[in-house]
Amino acid sequence: MRIAVHGASGFTGSLIVAELVRRDITPVLVGRDAARLRRVAHKSGLPDAEIRVAALDDIEALAAAFADCDAVINAAGPFTFWGEPVVRAAIAARRPYLDTTGEPAYLHKILTTYDQAAKDAGIAVLPAVQDDGVPGDLIAALAAARLDAPIAEIVVADLRRPGAASRGTARSMAAIAVLDQIEYRDGDWRPAADSASTLTEPGETEPVTVTPLALPGVYTVPRHVDSPVVRGVIRTEVGELFAGLSGEVAETIPEIPDPAVLAASRWFVLAEATGVDGRRARGWVTGFDPYGSTAVIAVEAARRLVTDGAPAGTLTPAQVFDPAGFLAALTDHGITWQVETLAAV
Ligand SMILES: NC(=O)c1ccc[n+]([C@@H]2O[C@H](COP(=O)([O-])OP(=O)(O)OC[C@H]3O[C@@H](n4cnc5c(N)ncnc54)[C@H](OP(=O)(O)O)[C@@H]3O)[C@@H](O)[C@H]2O)c1
Repeated sequence: MRIAVHGASGFTGSLIVAELVRRDITPVLVGRDAARLRRVAHKSGLPDAEIRVAALDDIEALAAAFADCDAVINAAGPFTFWGEPVVRAAIAARRPYLDTTGEPAYLHKILTTYDQAAKDAGIAVLPAVQDDGVPGDLIAALAAARLDAPIAEIVVADLRRPGAASRGTARSMAAIAVLDQIEYRDGDWRPAADSASTLTEPGETEPVTVTPLALPGVYTVPRHVDSPVVRGVIRTEVGELFAGLSGEVAETIPEIPDPAVLAASRWFVLAEATGVDGRRARGWVTGFDPYGSTAVIAVEAARRLVTDGAPAGTLTPAQVFDPAGFLAALTDHGITWQVETLAAV
């Protein structure tokens, strides 16, 4: 199996290359800078790995770089600026595509704009295959299924505490800081109420204050769970950090977070489903090292797309993968998950 990694020279891209190597999958490193790509090949223990240089303004060259690969993983962000040409090139090359974006407007645009083109090309296009997009979509599906009743609301919460973020993530958050927060309500995506609320993390006794954020689940969950409302929230203290990020501040953040801080950084994605009858169920997925987890999730998703196939079109993780089966495959990497029924409200 050969997987093209566009943006292989970046922090997340280099972890994806390392994870491919660990799983005996051949990486093809694609990007704009041969020297930086070669450095990652060396670091991954594959100094002779194939390097392909193609610029974003040359879709033909990008498509040619992808043509003999089984799938494309795109880790070059901010996706708001650089994502679409890579989607177009994967479609032109007729190769399944996934990316590591967490940028909501880009995610929504890819899901809505490229569905027919992906269908015509016979490929699956999956944006937001990372450490909150995949867990959030899959665990929301499982929490909703646990209720086995008409659903009134799904809340997806990213409850990670302030911690390690790469410069690439900071750039991406700065790129979206100007956008309104969005929620899904009554069949469409609308501005979210700008209000804080509280939520209790499983295993904790004290509720935490959370504020709206258009997490990937706000766009992905309505595609497979019939719920009139899907909201996304994060800890207010993290939301305030994101809101304070400008392009200038992002450039002051180290390219690669401190490895010790990363290893100790826990991510926690929760989904709560409330039925029209007041019954509730919730599920959560948690792990450490958000970027290492993203690499594991992206490679597992790409491997499954190639090995098991997928419908053509723009899709969400739960539309392609069996949620429990996919999450079970992550447990070897310290990623755990659980679903439970709660007392009715
Ligand atoms: N949970 C999440 O939402 C989540 C988790 C992980 C990653 N991510 C996202 O993944 C992306 C990558 O993060 P990172 O920390 O790996 O960033 P990074 O280290 O800055 O890497 C960015 C990559 O994009 C490439 N790139 C940037 N501008 C380009 C351009 N104009 N043309 C071609 N290539 C370009 C860079 O190539 P050069 O090396 O040539 O500069 C590099 O390979 C970010 O958008 C981040 O938000 C999201």
